[in-house]
Amino acid sequence: MTTIGVGLIGTGYMGKCHALAWTGVKAVFGDTPDIRLASLCDATPELAAKKAAEFGFLKSTADWRALIADPEIDVVSVTTPNHLHADMAIAALEAGKHVWCEKPMAPKYADAERMTAAARRSGKAAILGYNYIQNPAIRYIRKLLDEGKIGAVNHVRIEMDEDFLADPDQPHSWRSEAAAGYGALDDFAVHPLSLISTLFGRVESVFGDMAKPYPDRPHQGGRRAVETFDIATALLRLPGGISGAIHVNRCAWGRKGRIFVQIFGGRGMIAFDQERLNEVQIYLAEGRPEDQGFRVILMGPAHRPYDRFIVAPGHQLGFNDLKVIECRALIGRILGEETVAIDFDEGLAIERAVHAIAQAYREGRWVTV
Ligand SMILES: NC(=O)c1ccc[n+]([C@@H]2O[C@H](COP(=O)([O-])OP(=O)(O)OC[C@H]3O[C@@H](n4cnc5c(N)ncnc54)[C@H](O)[C@@H]3O)[C@@H](O)[C@H]2O)c1
Repeated sequence: MTTIGVGLIGTGYMGKCHALAWTGVKAVFGDTPDIRLASLCDATPELAAKKAAEFGFLKSTADWRALIADPEIDVVSVTTPNHLHADMAIAALEAGKHVWCEKPMAPKYADAERMTAAARRSGKAAILGYNYIQNPAIRYIRKLLDEGKIGAVNHVRIEMDEDFLADPDQPHSWRSEAAAGYGALDDFAVHPLSLISTLFGRVESVFGDMAKPYPDRPHQGGRRAVETFDIATALLRLPGGISGAIHVNRCAWGRKGRIFVQIFGGRGMIAFDQERLNEVQIYLAEGRPEDQGFRVILMGPAHRPYDRFIVAPGHQLGFNDLKVIECRALIGRILGEETVAIDFDEGLAIERAVHAIAQAYREGRWVTV
């Protein structure tokens, strides 16, 4: 394979991140086929043409089925609202394309199952946009855990908080419609669950709660009911007897992109916050008590693949760089390499955990995933 033809569906927040990743991946990693930005699609021909010109795509269309049918396209990035993922990803896989689909898979579990079945049938690479697992800091944490640096892990706690819906007068959008799913649970909690999947394996059982801080939001001159829950909390039981907890909130004033991970072991603990995504904190209970304290390790060229972006330490990676690493992971899967990524099989396990948490909330009991 000398060239990969890329099709992009959706050009909003994540669409731009995918476009930047496809643009940068060969320059960063150097070892990929050539990337050809073949065609992009958005809801209107005008928007699609404008974004194709901005992002450097050769063609544009407002018909996503036409994009998928395009023989010049080998891989399709799906960055549309959640309820559109299943139809688009399945059609792409059935047309013989590889797929990079944004998280969550789909609001309905049956649709996520159909997506996974289509991926298995197709034999094509199919991964999800779980970018946070791609951080060199998370790989470093995994290495520390594998080496037993903090002893046997007994508890992991992950909080994900942002404030983009904190204002009760933030306008209604697709994110507040029931068609998008439960809300913070499948919008946010899936990210902590992807980190747990990467670091500890699949969740075994859950207990959950969800909350709706505001009943309605401005919409077309009036107010429209909020159909989703912007806050969710879950207790988790993980492999090896590890206890876990996740707290997620889309209405958390002051928090811009916090994903605070705390991992407690018998001999120390590790902490990480996505708002300082180049830093890993480690506390080891060793030596004289008066000398004990947190060490902060700044990610640099020794923490791969930081070195592929820039040779100098101290300059730091950003969110879009995680997307470039994710894009390289997808290309690796296309080339038959084993790479770190949440594929549709692993993504389905995350969806199972999400629906189990919602069931636990409804029924007020622990649910086996
Ligand atoms: N991985 C992450 O960290 C992350 C962050 C934000 C969003 N997301 C996910 O990305 C997806 C998109 O979210 P977003 O914030 O980019 O939304 P957005 O609203 O900014 O963008 C969605 C885009 O899809 C387009 N679209 C809608 N219907 C379409 C159709 N029928 N055909 C073609 N295009 C269509 C819209 O016009 C818009 O350009 C969601 O699934 C979301 O959960 C992931």
